[in-house]
Amino acid sequence: MPDWLGVSSPSLPPGPRAPRPLQTARWLARPAAFMEDSARRYGDMFTLKIANEGTWVFLHHPDAVKQVFRGDPRLLHAGEANVVLMPVLGSHSVLLLDEDAHMAQRKLMLPPFHGERMRGYEETMAEVARRELERWPAGQALPAWPTMQAITLEVIMRTVFGVREGDRLERLGAVLRESLSWVTEPRRLGQMAVLGPRRIAERGTLRRALDPADELIYEEIRARRDAPDLADRDDVLSLLLQATHDDGTAMSDKELRDELMTLLVAGHETSATALAWALEALTRHPEALARLRDEVDAGEDAYLDAVVKETLRLRPVIALVLRRLTEPMEIGGRLLPAGVNVAPCIYLVHRRADVYDEPRAFRPERFLENQPGTYTWIPFGGGVRRCLGASFAQFEMKVVLRELVARLDIRAARPQPERRVRRAIVFAPSRGGEIVVEPRSAKREAAPAAAA
Ligand code: HEM
Repeated sequence: MPDWLGVSSPSLPPGPRAPRPLQTARWLARPAAFMEDSARRYGDMFTLKIANEGTWVFLHHPDAVKQVFRGDPRLLHAGEANVVLMPVLGSHSVLLLDEDAHMAQRKLMLPPFHGERMRGYEETMAEVARRELERWPAGQALPAWPTMQAITLEVIMRTVFGVREGDRLERLGAVLRESLSWVTEPRRLGQMAVLGPRRIAERGTLRRALDPADELIYEEIRARRDAPDLADRDDVLSLLLQATHDDGTAMSDKELRDELMTLLVAGHETSATALAWALEALTRHPEALARLRDEVDAGEDAYLDAVVKETLRLRPVIALVLRRLTEPMEIGGRLLPAGVNVAPCIYLVHRRADVYDEPRAFRPERFLENQPGTYTWIPFGGGVRRCLGASFAQFEMKVVLRELVARLDIRAARPQPERRVRRAIVFAPSRGGEIVVEPRSAKREAAPAAAA
């Protein structure tokens, strides 16, 4: 093979020549436009240089995505690529481990998140959603995001942490909200990347933000270990307390704390943001909203499912996933050097015209006609790192949307669609999914098709 193809000696694919600080500025200011421009100019695989994050090789051809997701986990480290989150999630976090240690932890965590188990959480999810939706002030332009966030936080506290009692729930909710807002403050990730995990961990501000949450989480773990009804409970913590490693040992308190924090951080903001995007999209597509409402009224599920899938396709909350190469690896016909971060780009894969007809259109029907492809619909990443909460999140989105359209009329607060903005690790709607709700009993004419 001739060397100029970059097959026999490692090389990087082309990318913008602008210096690193300039590329970083573009990435921070307009990430979507930067990715799309680069794809147009450099094709299926290109290199971006982002300060503190090293060298990223973006790829979006489904064959290359498949190579990464099916590749040897010893070559493709995802945990290492996420190390910036270590001070918050802790050293046992499934998100931060690689190879055998990762698989050991993932094996314990898979059963509680198995798709079929989700039905058991349905009533809790619906009840939490109903309560929050009832409080939503009618007739005012308000971002959907805070309500969605309140729902997803309480759902996690009840179904994952297993906290049910009112006062405990309130106490835990208050400290978790505090810690999470510290973690997701816009400048925080940059700060963690600049200082590095060790120096961040030593800082008093981190401990002050996390200690109250840790204290309550440990308290919960210890109380649950001794709970007389442990074997009858179906929340994730109770299931993990009964799980054992291959050598028969149970998970330690520290392991449990790290995994609970991981589930909270990975599952709360992502799901709330995806719901806000769903509402943003539905209010701008009255025909889709009307069909959804008709099908929900008729007790049907298929269109609801398609709406969730189409939202996650067109408005993925995570734009890319990362794998750090521990050795040179051939991907897409090029040998890439060790040390780079390979980034299967969810955002670009979902917008490929050779995969999706009218890729920029919000058209849930496409998922009634075709099932999503393993390497072409990847909002939850893939392979041995695929999101553990994928079934949980989709199920929760369906339950919340069903409760919402059954009770409320919704319309966009303004005609201009919302831009994508980065909030810590997610791409969120710029106005938080700003909508106006009215009780559904109100006259239909009261909800003009403002969104069109
Ligand atoms: C719409 C909501 C969500 C989205 C879009 C999402 C997306 C993702 C993505 C892209 C990854 C990385 C996958 C990869 O590297 O290939 C991931 C990992 C993960 N997610 Fe989610 N997620 C969501 C909700 C949740 C929920 C609700 C939970 C749990 C309660 C959760 C728990 C996790 C965990 C534990 C991992 C790490 C898996 C591993 O490294 O083995 N996520 N998620």
